[in-house]
Amino acid sequence: MNDINLKADMLQAMRRLAKSVTIISTSNGSERFAMAATAVDSLSTEPPSLLICINKTASPHAALATGADFCVNILGVEQQDLAHLCSGAIKGEARFDRGNWLTSAGGIPYLGDAQSAILCRQDGHFSYGTHTVFIGRILQIHTSEAITPLVYLDGTYTTTAKPVPSFAVAG
Ligand SMILES: Cc1cc2nc3c(=O)[nH]c(=O)nc-3n(C[C@H](O)[C@H](O)[C@H](O)COP(=O)(O)O)c2cc1C
Repeated sequence: MNDINLKADMLQAMRRLAKSVTIISTSNGSERFAMAATAVDSLSTEPPSLLICINKTASPHAALATGADFCVNILGVEQQDLAHLCSGAIKGEARFDRGNWLTSAGGIPYLGDAQSAILCRQDGHFSYGTHTVFIGRILQIHTSEAITPLVYLDGTYTTTAKPVPSFAVAG
């Protein structure tokens, strides 16, 4: 199978991978950046860490590539408007006009009412194709009571259904 077919098949496969929607926020000291991202995952709990995959053309990339710390803000279902704003609907600082944006002690913007705002110190990165993978060593977490994440599935926004009773996982 050639790369063009594989790319199309991969995009179809990814439509079936439900992902919670996040906003990655960062700063270079003078400017703030925020963009929607689903290529985010936990890396290890020892040490507590996660990874994010950022397109090299995206506006936060330059700041991240110079080592900026960042926050992974996991959005709630009611924050779909923020995901829309931070995925190209508007650009730059105007993305911070909506939402309860606060600033960490280290100068990184984070969403005060995210499902969870995970503040990270950048702890390495590597380039792969069109993207750079950034590793975040978790410094601090602000988590809300509710677990009602905004989910991206099959090219659209949705949220989680109630657990299937017989397969509910404890913990
Ligand atoms: C649901 C969703 C998930 C996205 N996930 C990512 C991602 O993980 N990494 C990435 O680089 N771009 C991702 N994007 C695209 C960026 O949010 C988008 O290109 C954004 O406009 C980049 O910021 P900029 O316009 O300031 O350059 C995603 C977009 C959407 C709508």
